[in-house]
Amino acid sequence: MNIIVTGGAGFIGSNFVRMALSQRPEWRVIVVDALTYAGNLENLDGLEKTYSGRYRFAKADVADSAAIEKLFEQESPSIVVHFAAESHVDRSVLGPMDFVRTNVLGTATLLDAARKSWRDKAGRFLQISTDEVYGALGDTGAFTEATPLAPSSPYSASKASADLLALAYHKTFGLDVVITRCCNNYGPYQFPEKLIPFMISRFVDGEKLPVYGNGMNVRDWIHVEDHNRGVLLAIEKGRPGEVYNLGARCERNNIDIVRSLLKLLLTAKGKPAVDLDSHITFVKDRPGHDWRYAIDPSKAERELGFRPEVRFEEGLAKTVQWYLENEKWWRDVQSGAYRDYVSKVYGA
Ligand SMILES: NC(=O)c1ccc[n+]([C@@H]2O[C@H](COP(=O)([O-])OP(=O)(O)OC[C@H]3O[C@@H](n4cnc5c(N)ncnc54)[C@H](O)[C@@H]3O)[C@@H](O)[C@H]2O)c1
Repeated sequence: MNIIVTGGAGFIGSNFVRMALSQRPEWRVIVVDALTYAGNLENLDGLEKTYSGRYRFAKADVADSAAIEKLFEQESPSIVVHFAAESHVDRSVLGPMDFVRTNVLGTATLLDAARKSWRDKAGRFLQISTDEVYGALGDTGAFTEATPLAPSSPYSASKASADLLALAYHKTFGLDVVITRCCNNYGPYQFPEKLIPFMISRFVDGEKLPVYGNGMNVRDWIHVEDHNRGVLLAIEKGRPGEVYNLGARCERNNIDIVRSLLKLLLTAKGKPAVDLDSHITFVKDRPGHDWRYAIDPSKAERELGFRPEVRFEEGLAKTVQWYLENEKWWRDVQSGAYRDYVSKVYGA
C-alpha cells in the first residue's frame, strides 16, 4: 500500500516516516517535501538504504498542482498524511503570505488531487492540524473538538482554513478525511527556532535565554512520538469526517520549561543547577501571543484508544541529551537565513 507523507523532511513528518516504515512493513512511504528552510534531508538519513524499495523521496511543492497530480498518477496512494506546512507563528507575523500559499492553497491542491484520483477508489486523507486553530484560553478549561475555531495568528488562521477545506471536501465530495489537532510537540529533529531546541542552542552558545513577556503563557506539551502514535491510530481507526484532539494533558508555563531546561543543561555540563534566572532575559511579548492552550484528548482516548506513553520529565531529559549529542545537526540547519530571522524577532 502506498502512502504519501507531505512535509516528511520536517520535524514531526520525519519522525512519522521513521515510525511508519518500522512499524507498518506493508506500507511503501513516499515523502513529498519542498525542502524549505524547515525541511532537511538529513532528517531522513539512512532510510533509503534501510528500507530500499519501501521508501521514496520526491521534492515537490504541495501548492504545485501539476507536480502533485503527477505524483498521484505515478504512485496511486491509498493514504495521504499531510504534515507539510509553514509552521512557525513568529514567521507568520513577519510574512503571512507564505502561510496562505502553503497551508491553504497547498492543502486545497492536495485535497483536489485526492478527489480526482480517488473517484472510484478508496483513499484516506489525514489532515495534520493544531490546537492553535481554537484560539486562546483563559486560566481554566480545555479545547474540545466542539470548541469554535477562533485563530489568532496568520499561522493558526491558515491552518483553520485548511481544516475547513478538508471538512468541506468530505461533506461535498464524500472524500474520506480525518483531522487530528495536536498541542505543542517536542523531541528530536525539531528546527532550532522552536522553544525547546532554541533555548538549548542558546545555552550551548553561552547566550542568555530570551523569554517572551513574563513567561507565564501556558502551553500543553506532547512528545513527537506520542503525537505520531495518535496519527497512526487516526489513520487506522478514525471515523471519516471526524476531528480528533491529540494531547498528553501536560500544561506548563514557558518559564517553567526554560527553568527545567536550564537545570538539565547545567547538570549535563557538570555545573550546579542554581541561580537559574541569571541565564534568562525577558523580551517584549510577541503581538497576538495567545495566553493559554490546553487540549482535551478524551475523544481520541475513547474512540481511538490513544494513550501517550512518554512522561514529560523523561521526554525532556532525552530531548536535551539528543540536542547535546547532535550539535552538528542543529548547527547545519542554522543557515544564514535562520540567523537573520532570529535577529528580526528577538533583536540583535
Ligand atoms: N510543531 C508542533 O508543535 C505542531 C503542533 C501541532 C500541529 N503541528 C502541525 O504539524 C505539521 C508539521 O509541523 P512541524 O513542526 O514538523 O513543521 P516543520 O516546519 O518542522 O516542517 C514542515 C515541513 O513542510 C515542508 N514544507 C513547507 N512548505 C512546503 C510546501 N509548500 N510544499 C511541500 N513541503 C513544504 C518543509 O520543507 C518541512 O519539511 C504542520 O502541519 C503543523 O501545523 C505542529
